[in-house]
Amino acid sequence: MPFELGSKAKAAGYRLAAFDRIGSTSTEAMAQAKAGETGRLWFVAREQTAGHGRRGRPWQAPRGNLAASLLLPAPGSPAETATLGFAAGLALEGALREVAPELAADVRLKWPNDVLLGGAKIAGILLEASGKSVVTGIGVNVRQTPRDLPYPVTSLAEAGSDATAETLFAALTDAWVEQEALWDHGGGFDAIRSRWLACAAGLGAPIAVRLGTEECRGTFETIDRDGRLVVRQRDGSSRTVNAGDVYFGGAAAAEF
Ligand code: BTN
Repeated sequence: MPFELGSKAKAAGYRLAAFDRIGSTSTEAMAQAKAGETGRLWFVAREQTAGHGRRGRPWQAPRGNLAASLLLPAPGSPAETATLGFAAGLALEGALREVAPELAADVRLKWPNDVLLGGAKIAGILLEASGKSVVTGIGVNVRQTPRDLPYPVTSLAEAGSDATAETLFAALTDAWVEQEALWDHGGGFDAIRSRWLACAAGLGAPIAVRLGTEECRGTFETIDRDGRLVVRQRDGSSRTVNAGDVYFGGAAAAEF
């Protein structure tokens, strides 16, 4: 079955560049942006050989998993661009609910841009900006669970779903059309924020955030109106975090 955009995405004027094998859909999207492409264009590949994640970490996307990137014109400000990841997370959550409704109750969004299934990472989202464009890279473990990662991971197949990367991709492109309207180039972030918080992992629970060599511990209170993480620290003060790696549960209590 070929990769295709969903019917709503086609009607909304999105285009598709599909590859059998590629280094990285996001690298390709960034290269096309530098060459003058302005989007709205999806890139998708059956296999990605040099995928990257947040902080330059490698991202494994073997055949059967979903590797996709969306090239869009960037909103006016970097703060608005940063909110795009939350809208993309909601689109992915909606798409997972559609293709694997039996697993929907276990899907959660983890700040800033991860998707968890039953507490284990099933997907990651990476935003990269290039001039007047922004690329949202989305990787989902569909048929294969990556090995040797320092955090719990899972895949749709491991959770018992027979959904494929192709059906998930079509659902994602349609779900994005809905979230994009709500997001409204960052202007509609209040609505996105409320929906995101309703799906958030670990809200009100102990949290630890690694910020480079520093760490911050407390309770996950909320995300603010710019999408930053708000932690209520043990001394009662509140700390707002722009970027970091988040840990819940036992890991939030353990030393890094
Ligand atoms: C993360 O959790 O660190 C984000 C992972 C993002 C991976 C996707 S797969 C499609 C796109 N191409 C890449 O090289 N990265 C993103």
